[in-house]
Amino acid sequence: MDFYNVINKIKNKYLNNNKEDVLRHVEDVADIAVGLADAYNLNIKQVQLAAFLHDISSIMTPQEMYELAKRRGLEIGPSEEKYHALLHQRISKIIAQEELDITDPYILNAVECHTTLRKNASICDKIIFVADKISRDSQCVPLHSELLRSGDIKLLDEACYSYIKHQIDNNLLAMPHQWILEAYEELKTNKE
Ligand SMILES: [Fe+2]
Repeated sequence: MDFYNVINKIKNKYLNNNKEDVLRHVEDVADIAVGLADAYNLNIKQVQLAAFLHDISSIMTPQEMYELAKRRGLEIGPSEEKYHALLHQRISKIIAQEELDITDPYILNAVECHTTLRKNASICDKIIFVADKISRDSQCVPLHSELLRSGDIKLLDEACYSYIKHQIDNNLLAMPHQWILEAYEELKTNKE
């Protein structure tokens, strides 16, 4: 299936499940991510697909996500056990693979860690992570305009680090996911 057909299929999945609001959000994330992908010389289509797919699990309830995760034998962490919605990044990956036939690990990985990031994240992972946050609150990543100008990897790491640090320092994460803590430690170590 060609790129535009896949994008249309994804859009229809949101629309057929009455998720117009989520579709507007993922379109916004895609716009932000494409700007960043351009600055960082990434493949625009891969980044767009990751952006469109990242919240596709919104077609399910948190309870349904939890049940699917259990059925698939996913290892469920303590924060996911308590807050089932935290599974949505991993469930979006499963839907992308199984219902939209996405096989590109670069896209799937970015979808899978878009909320929490994780250690050894790719540039695409970091761009989708940051774009998702900017879409929800344009002030929360103050380095956005510098990222668009510079395409500097260190600055992208700094944006991820400062966002996570703000969340942790201000107790904004009800129960931090293990992946975000690991990403934070790695980003902190690399800064030193
Ligand atoms: Fe999102």
